Amino acid sequence: MRNYKIVLLPGDGIGPEITAVAKNILNSISKKHGFQLTFEEHPFGGQAIENSGLPLPEKTLEACKGSDSVLLAAIGDPKFDVLEREKRPETGLLKLRAEMELFANLRPVKIIPALIEASTLKKEIIEGVDLIVVRELTGGIYFGKPKGRFKDNEDERAFNTMSYGSKEIDRISDIGFNLAKTRRRRLCSVDKANVLDVSQLWRDRVNYHAQIHSEVEVSHLYVDNAAMQLVKDPRQFDVILTGNLFGDILSDEAAMLTGSIGMLPSASIGEKGPGLFEPVHGSAPDIAGKDLANPIAMVLSAAMMLKIGLKEIEASNDLESTVNKVLSNGLRTSDLSSKGHRTLTCSEMGKYLLSEI
Ligand code: IPM
Ligand code: MN
Repeated sequence: MRNYKIVLLPGDGIGPEITAVAKNILNSISKKHGFQLTFEEHPFGGQAIENSGLPLPEKTLEACKGSDSVLLAAIGDPKFDVLEREKRPETGLLKLRAEMELFANLRPVKIIPALIEASTLKKEIIEGVDLIVVRELTGGIYFGKPKGRFKDNEDERAFNTMSYGSKEIDRISDIGFNLAKTRRRRLCSVDKANVLDVSQLWRDRVNYHAQIHSEVEVSHLYVDNAAMQLVKDPRQFDVILTGNLFGDILSDEAAMLTGSIGMLPSASIGEKGPGLFEPVHGSAPDIAGKDLANPIAMVLSAAMMLKIGLKEIEASNDLESTVNKVLSNGLRTSDLSSKGHRTLTCSEMGKYLLSEI
């Protein structure tokens, strides 16, 4: 029987609650489709800081590298914001991405018809939206050097560097263009080339790839305009290709087209080796431990893991249709609920999903 080793990183806040739901569902869907998943849980983020003082313990990193796929829930809590940056949960996540060489982050945003009323945007604007943000994940201003903070006479100063090499732009462009070919063959590259040199290099490289992949229709937007276009006319987008910081910001904005960030999965992949699959949302400390979280982004991240990480396409499609079915039946967690819907807790939503598999 096909057997895969999955590392689960439940992390902080609502992480353990949504991980429990995803694990049950994965067990059931794998049985149905004739393969086996072996789970290993490891401490990561704030949970690891409390055990060992470090957000990404060596053992956790080794387990991730040796797995077939990593499924991460969420990390972070305001109580760690006082720690020096090296010891914060977010630094552990950046280190994990860098160590596993996960340079491409895929964040699909597809409107689920049953949820169209949940968005703060008008129905006629978001109907039919189906886009994907391809975010560069191991470069740009998140990792650029030099960086620092220092006293400058009476003044205090801090700085980061946004830098990209052409090879980094080339490999993420390849991912974006190849993905566009499996979709509607439109790619919009987002930069700030009217101001930033690093963006001009980005644009030049993307234009070079545009010549190679001539069947893909390419456009460029400055990031400020892209932010506006996303709420003005989101249907114009198919693949959005962008750098680390712009992708971080635009993917949160794009997530809200769907009504709740609690719906959005993501995949982080590299050239080779296991991928990392995680919801776009954070650890939501305000609702942690209350069984209120929406587990769907986590479940859809598990579906992305099945598809992209394990190539279990049928099981992945099955899981996605299970989610759609439960939502079409009018079942909602509190982040999405409106009049006429039954509001479920996180674990109840898990049970309904299980019962539909
Ligand atoms: C995300 C998150 C992370 C990021 C944080 C937690 C470091 O916001 O995955 O989008 O900025 O990349
Ligand atoms: Mn983010």
